[in-house]
Amino acid sequence: MSIISIDNQAASLELSLFGAHVLSYMPKKDSRQRLYMSPCALMDGSKAIRGGIPICWPWFGQHEASSLPAHGYLRTRVWRITRIDDDLRETRLQLQPGRTRGEGFDGCADVTLTLLVGDSLSLSLDTQNIGQQPFSYNAALHSYFRVSDIHKVRLAGLDGDYLDKVRDGQRAPTPDPYTFEGETDRIHLCQTSDTLLTDPDYEMSIGHRGHDSIVVWNPWQQKSEAMADMPDGDYRQMLCIETAITQGKRLAPDEQHQLVQIID
Ligand code: BG6
Repeated sequence: MSIISIDNQAASLELSLFGAHVLSYMPKKDSRQRLYMSPCALMDGSKAIRGGIPICWPWFGQHEASSLPAHGYLRTRVWRITRIDDDLRETRLQLQPGRTRGEGFDGCADVTLTLLVGDSLSLSLDTQNIGQQPFSYNAALHSYFRVSDIHKVRLAGLDGDYLDKVRDGQRAPTPDPYTFEGETDRIHLCQTSDTLLTDPDYEMSIGHRGHDSIVVWNPWQQKSEAMADMPDGDYRQMLCIETAITQGKRLAPDEQHQLVQIID
């Protein structure tokens, strides 16, 4: 599996070309690793990598045809670098997947991921309709954030109702304060553009653009014990906050849309 390393004056980052998957991001202003990576993640290309930042596209979660891979197929495609611009304090990296057509998606799309690696990390997933017919897609920048202890973490910035995937998609109001006490799998249908993750050790702001949802996920103990690619107790060290399109974004021919997450 090819791993790309970026190390400029402001930050270091590692990315696997399998899935255009960011494995690690550490800004030098505080030298804190922002991302959780499972030590049991499979790195042989046989399965999507557990941890870091998976790219979900062109659907989110399970496809109605259950034989198709959850979260689409770009997180298990090998991507290629199409452009790299290096500055002392910021590196711009652009990648594209080889082929975006596949079973479960018959649109004709051009997909580009652009990373800006500096004092903050910006990921921009650009989808353009290059076909003659409109299509709809879903997507997510499915970031796994590293936390010191999930029981002590707070999340701010979300409001309104969420759809609770742990309770058959029932609607529930966003808790205030937002803390974690059990399995969490929530689709927040909100346009909020800034969330703040407060850990006893530090604060991290996560910006969202071009989304219709923010997904918050932690498998907690029982589910993580059933996951072969994550150690049993590691649910305590991670929280996924995902900038997502879950309600279907329709693109007319030539139209394009950007989904952006900014990690500070
Ligand atoms: C989250 C979903 O985005 O991803 C969860 O809301 C899912 O339902 C989780 O379990 C992990 O998915 P996967 O396919 O990487 O195990």
